[in-house]
Amino acid sequence: MKQTIKKWIPFIVLITIVIVTAIYMFLSTLKSTYIPVTDKPGQIYREACSGCHGVQGEGKGLFPALADESIKTLHIEDIVKNGALMMPAFKHLRGDTLSRLADYVSRHKFRE
Ligand code: HEC
Repeated sequence: MKQTIKKWIPFIVLITIVIVTAIYMFLSTLKSTYIPVTDKPGQIYREACSGCHGVQGEGKGLFPALADESIKTLHIEDIVKNGALMMPAFKHLRGDTLSRLADYVSRHKFRE
């Protein structure tokens, strides 16, 4: 019995690596189809971001809080444009709309 299990170990390891890689590749290609109909950052935040990051930027489970003072505007613009492992890229948020949203998030004015 022990012998047969040993025989399968390389196969199991290989399958695990393939599955993990596939999940990783899938997650990093996620793109949001969200198209803003307004340039009001508060409304965009509620529509596009609050589902994961919380209405007050408080975060939810695996989704990080955005209330950290150290998060910089440029970093926010970058992550919204390009996404991160578990965060989709928002390709339709750009230019002024994006800078205003980043500024809004960085100042934590989640009630405006
Ligand atoms: C599908 C859920 C989801 C949505 C929607 C989403 N995010 Fe995220 N966000 C995440 C996750 C998960 C992370 C953590 C990074 C990772 O994936 O590893 C993250 C990270 C971030 C970070 C970096 C936080 C840090 O501590 O560095 C910022 C800033 C951010 N998101 C802003 C936004 C903004 C602004 C929006 C709306 C346009 C948004 N997110 C929409 C899931 C989401």
